[in-house]
Amino acid sequence: MTAQATPTSTPTSTSASASASASARKAPLFAVYGANGHTGRVVASELLARQQRVLLAGRDERALHAVADELGVPDLVSIRHAPLDDRPALRALTESADVIIHCAGPFTTTGEPVATAAAETGTAYVDHAIEPHHVKYLFDSLQATAQRTGAVLLPQMSFYGGLGDLLAAAASAGLPDVDKVTVGYAVTGWRMTQGAVNTANLLIGEIDRIGFTDGAQRVGPVEIRNAVFPFPPPVGPRTTIVPFPSGEVVTVPRHVPARAVEVQLTASTFEEEQIFTSVDVSPQERAKTEFTVAVQVTGAAGGGRNAHVRGRDIWRAGAVVSVEAALRLAGGEGPEKTGVLGPAEAFAAPEFLRALAESGTFTLTLPG
Ligand SMILES: NC(=O)c1ccc[n+]([C@@H]2O[C@H](COP(=O)([O-])OP(=O)(O)OC[C@H]3O[C@@H](n4cnc5c(N)ncnc54)[C@H](OP(=O)(O)O)[C@@H]3O)[C@@H](O)[C@H]2O)c1
Repeated sequence: MTAQATPTSTPTSTSASASASASARKAPLFAVYGANGHTGRVVASELLARQQRVLLAGRDERALHAVADELGVPDLVSIRHAPLDDRPALRALTESADVIIHCAGPFTTTGEPVATAAAETGTAYVDHAIEPHHVKYLFDSLQATAQRTGAVLLPQMSFYGGLGDLLAAAASAGLPDVDKVTVGYAVTGWRMTQGAVNTANLLIGEIDRIGFTDGAQRVGPVEIRNAVFPFPPPVGPRTTIVPFPSGEVVTVPRHVPARAVEVQLTASTFEEEQIFTSVDVSPQERAKTEFTVAVQVTGAAGGGRNAHVRGRDIWRAGAVVSVEAALRLAGGEGPEKTGVLGPAEAFAAPEFLRALAESGTFTLTLPG
């Protein structure tokens, strides 16, 4: 906690505000990297709605000031300019925060510098990545550093990736012999941001994909095919794209002893006209998504279990997942282990999902 952030306003000098400032200084500080992007703004708003102190960070200082003005809570908001190629600035950023929520993407480009700074400075880190290669990179390359410094790093604590991982854990709890975990995302009305379009471009063109089959992680070309996933009504069985590149293929095998893990997305999601042409729409328009995230776990000797969540606005759902995780990490309700962890390794999945359902983020159906 060494570096000073730039406050967005000068506090008044009344004794009431002096004591408010004193107690605010003790409150945890949440850095939001990429705070001027859509995800960053939604995350910052959710933190502020919970009266938390927020440090808006990124590479464009003017854009960060504009977001601070929009948010309109100067006592709780400060700014930090930290481009990705300025390693000392990134380290100063993570050192000054209790938790950093990384919202800038594609994570293939942005992930390593921010995650490395967090791991090296022992700072809790949560990100919104979907890319399996980024998730694998954190486990393969930053695990030892994070364990040495005591940092907890949670990749893909968001809509895609995070919800599938948590549902997989909740559905398979107590099943003696899991054969396959299939995660299905049914999404309508997705209006991609520039960051999402850039990420989709990379993932669609990716040749070497990460999969988990026959009990082992495999990296290489795969045949992309259609399947049918049995989403619960009112969605019903839908044609899906398989495999959909999402990080559950890396995280789920860490806590579910499955033979295979696969992620699918409704084929209709990419057939909707607005998906790639909505970079400039308003946040209100972008919020008009509907989603079902369902998991089917099958047992080696037959049988199995289903679980799902259903709701509106994938951006807000992802933001709330990351904020819930960050609040728990800052409040000492994080995992007993340190290092790089998948969502369901860090938190008890049924309880975490129930907390989000109770706060109205989605409806939740768990087995039994
Ligand atoms: N897993 C999920 O469910 C989930 C949910 C939401 C978002 N995401 C991911 O989060 C990322 C951001 O999405 P978004 O919707 O917020 O996109 P966005 O609105 O276009 O914002 C992108 C943000 O990333 C920053 N950025 C991009 N490249 C950068 C770089 N090289 N250095 C520093 N900052 C950089 C941008 O800064 P500038 O303005 O300076 O360019 C901006 O702040 C995407 O990769 C998306 O896939 C995933």
